[in-house]
Amino acid sequence: MNKRAALKNKIMQQIKYFFIILFCVIITLANAQQDTAVYHEQYRPQIHFSPKAHWMNDPNGMVYNDGIYHLFFQYYPGASVWGPMHWGHATSTDLVHWQEQPIALYPDSLGYIFSGSAVLDKNNTSGFGKNGIAPLVAIYTNHDTAGERAGRKDYQTQSIAYSLDNGKTWTKYAHNPVVKNPGIVDFRDPKVSWNEVAKKWIMTLATKDRITFFSSPDLKNWTKESEFGEKLGAHGGVWECPDLFPLDYNGQEVWVLIVNINPGGPNGGSATQYFTGNFDGHTFTPDDTTTKWLDYGPDEYAGITWSNTGDRKIFLGWMSNWEYANVVPTEKWRSATTVPRELGIKKINNQFLVTSQPVKELNAIAKPISTLTNVKATDYTVTNSSKLSTPYRLSLTTDAVKDFSITFSNENGEQLIVGFDKAANQYYIDRTKAGESSFKQSFAAKAVAPRFAQNNQLGLTLIIDAASVELFADGGLTTMTAIFFPKDLLNQIHVQSPEGLVLKTLQLSSMQSIWK
Ligand code: FRU
Repeated sequence: MNKRAALKNKIMQQIKYFFIILFCVIITLANAQQDTAVYHEQYRPQIHFSPKAHWMNDPNGMVYNDGIYHLFFQYYPGASVWGPMHWGHATSTDLVHWQEQPIALYPDSLGYIFSGSAVLDKNNTSGFGKNGIAPLVAIYTNHDTAGERAGRKDYQTQSIAYSLDNGKTWTKYAHNPVVKNPGIVDFRDPKVSWNEVAKKWIMTLATKDRITFFSSPDLKNWTKESEFGEKLGAHGGVWECPDLFPLDYNGQEVWVLIVNINPGGPNGGSATQYFTGNFDGHTFTPDDTTTKWLDYGPDEYAGITWSNTGDRKIFLGWMSNWEYANVVPTEKWRSATTVPRELGIKKINNQFLVTSQPVKELNAIAKPISTLTNVKATDYTVTNSSKLSTPYRLSLTTDAVKDFSITFSNENGEQLIVGFDKAANQYYIDRTKAGESSFKQSFAAKAVAPRFAQNNQLGLTLIIDAASVELFADGGLTTMTAIFFPKDLLNQIHVQSPEGLVLKTLQLSSMQSIWK
């Protein structure tokens, strides 16, 4: 080849490379842009986890290990309605920013992968560990649809899988299931934790209308210990997704047994009830028999806590309700989680009550817009001229316990009203006119919750995202969650108070999107 031809060839080659690189850059930029667009659709939560696409329900297998908070979740990658269940997976280092990961568990010959939990098996009791690596062990329900169709009763069993790479890949145990079904139709959602008294793993299992406790030395062999609750608490629906853990009350260990129930919640449909008492390694004994709810709103369900978080108990719920979860107007994806909440315990009227507060990590994305003290409640308004936009957080304390309401609205006339009714001693969230509701007749409604605190000052924190409000009153003694679907973001705030309430403190902060 002569010199000229060689040169021409070289130039052609370089032009080719230039175009290949240009093409790659365009594709990368387009993908990045698409990714940003993905998390900015109408109704898309900006500070709550939701999957990029398709159906999600319960949070599953939440475990902290080696700097990473794992969130697995009931996931159907084939559509935006409930279907064959997988465990989706997301991770976070701060409980605020989430990264969706590849699917962790796929349905198998034993059935769909229903809800369950995960633990760090520090001492390798299971023997799954290798080369000094302690395994993460997931304990979940296999739901066998063939058995269900055949009219059998024993189609839900408990199985396990383990991971030696901090949750990236999972191996199912060769001898699943580890807990067979004795003939109970609803036999699911194992929550496992290590019990120091029994020196065994304890499985808390929802078994139709009661909880059944099992114990195991190695996560593989399980023995039934006891049953609880057949005649206690709310029974308006099936018992699902339980949790069991102690909380510290001034040095006293108070055991909390969470039992999700669907339907039969205080404002209709699914909700999270709990019991307080003692667990002695074998049996749960309640210390009172009133029905207590962790969240009174219509849209916190299947909530349970992370394992392996030391003294902190961090709770996360699914932000929807089985009454309408499959038909809410977010067709590309369905459902989000609540914000993670730190649980505590208080004694009111000689009764233990569990408190929920948004985790402090959320402060990192809060940017104060206004901080005020001693303002007349009715003087406080925010109009859209201030360019307020969801998500935001409003915290206030009052000088007295009086009626008031806060209206969050937009120029479309959509409004969400949150308030306190002194005569009824109730907080409320009214989403009657908060946006699209035609998908379910009962959706446009007002939800109420009792006030438990007995002091003469109210304290309220509201976290408002594109399509949800979470209310934490009086240090988390009353908690409510509700979703809603406004055409435009709610960017105006007005306070009404017929009795001239004074806001001792008020702080409005915008919350930075976790998806940027
Ligand atoms: C609760 C629940 C669980 C079950 C899962 C199935 O919402 O019904 O009891 O394991 O969802 O997706």
